[in-house]
Formats: sequence, structure tokens, C-alpha cells
Amino acid sequence: MGYELKMRIWRGDRSGGDLGDYAVEVSEGEVVLDAIHRVQATQAGDLAVRWNCKAGKCGSCSAEVNGRPALMCMTRLSDFDPAETITVTPMRTFPVIRDLVTDVSFNYEKARELPSFAPPPRDADGKRRMAQVDVERGQEFRKCIECFLCQNTCHVVRDHEENKPAFAGPRFFLRYAELDMHPLDTHDRRQLAQGAAGLGMCNITKCCTEVCPENIKITDNAIIPMKERVADRKFDPLVWLGNRIGIR
Ligand code: SF4
Ligand code: F3S
Ligand code: FES
Repeated sequence: MGYELKMRIWRGDRSGGDLGDYAVEVSEGEVVLDAIHRVQATQAGDLAVRWNCKAGKCGSCSAEVNGRPALMCMTRLSDFDPAETITVTPMRTFPVIRDLVTDVSFNYEKARELPSFAPPPRDADGKRRMAQVDVERGQEFRKCIECFLCQNTCHVVRDHEENKPAFAGPRFFLRYAELDMHPLDTHDRRQLAQGAAGLGMCNITKCCTEVCPENIKITDNAIIPMKERVADRKFDPLVWLGNRIGIR
């Protein structure tokens, strides 16, 4: 059944902007991204929006729908009362380029700070081996589609630009945890996670986990175990002794 949806969409650029009012024909089975596209097609041809797959897999269409960080292509109109006005704004933590498109370079900078997977030399037969249980442990972490909704939501950086240089954010704590739990990785990720990545600034509010469209248990399965690993390292008597005599 079709109806007229009232929308408020943020329009503007780096220098500022405001919410614009639109009314658009939609069907109950559609998603927010469909409505945005129809506004773009029928009344605001210059409306900037980033998207790609419309299937919740590319991570491009992240925005805030009625203030809640979400993928526009996975947010069903049937979840709202047809009489309700739906407000769509760009992700707040990243600088706006135009309209709903933000500059997410912060995340790519954080990715570059993270040393890549560093396996040891291959076995004599040219292969590398790891236990199935270790393969399975990392699978949840590799579901990440890099939508950066968790990064956008985390209060440590959401309204605190000053924290950004020292805080990598939940998406990258996930990557640190994945690599630290990988039996073939030779880096000591724990020191990096706690130091350069600012793991200690996370106070486990779990807001990142709540918005993850892949339902990755970021806090329980990555951040908390990583904090425990950091603590283990810190209080390991051999590491402590090594630090004292300057060999670690
Ligand atoms: Fe998006 Fe989840 Fe990956 Fe964060 S961990 S970037 S919320 S898919
Ligand atoms: Fe931020 Fe998630 Fe920690 S929201 S404070 S990274 S639990
Ligand atoms: Fe790809 Fe929404 S368009 S996740």
C-alpha cells in the first residue's frame, strides 16, 4: 500500500546546512534509501548520498535515521508509523562533504596505523597450519563491512574531536583482537592496542555493538578479551622484569 511519507533531510556542506522538508510517495515494503532516491529523482536532483549495494553489504549508506545510526538500505519504512516524519542526517562524527555524504578518512588513517598480518616463515612443505578453532574464532570479526557506524556512535570520539588522534575506535579494536588471537601473527598487538590505539579510553559502554548491522559482538568478543590480554601482558612477571631491565 502506498502513502505519502514526510521526510526531513539534512542539506548542506562543510560550511553549514539545515534540514529540508520533503514529501514523497513510498510503499510500505520500501527502505529509507528508496525514499531518499525518490526524493533525489523527483525533487532534489543534487541531493548527495553514498550507496552501492542496497543489500547491507557494502557499508556505504551509513547515516542517522531519527538520530539513530543505521544503514539506510536496511532500515524499513514499515518500522515507522506512516504518519511519522522521518529525519535523515549524515553521520555526526565525521566531517560532512555534502548532504548525507561524510568524509570517513579518519578510519583509513587508523587502518594505516595498524601493522598488517605478519606470519612466520612457511612450514617445510610450503604450507601454513592453524587449528580449526582459531579459524572459527576470527570469522565473526571478518564479517565487518566497514560501515563505520560503530566508529560514528562511540562517545569517545562522537563529540570529542580532540580524542581522535589517540583513539582508533571499535572497528579497529576488532581488527587488533582478530590479529592478536591469530596463532600465526608475529606482532605483539597488545602493546599497540593499549598505546597508539587508545584501548584504555574505551569504558565498555557497548553502544558500538548495538548499532553494528552485522551483529558482531564488538565489546564482548573483541574489546573485553583484548583488554584482558593487555592486562595479562602488563602483569606478566616476565614482561614486568623485562621492562625493568630494558629487554622488552
Ligand atoms: Fe560496521 Fe560493525 Fe564493522 Fe563497525 S564492526 S564498521 S558497525 S560492520
Ligand atoms: Fe566506544 Fe564501544 Fe568502547 S562505544 S567506549 S568502543 S564499548
Ligand atoms: Fe550497501 Fe547500504 S547500500 S550497505
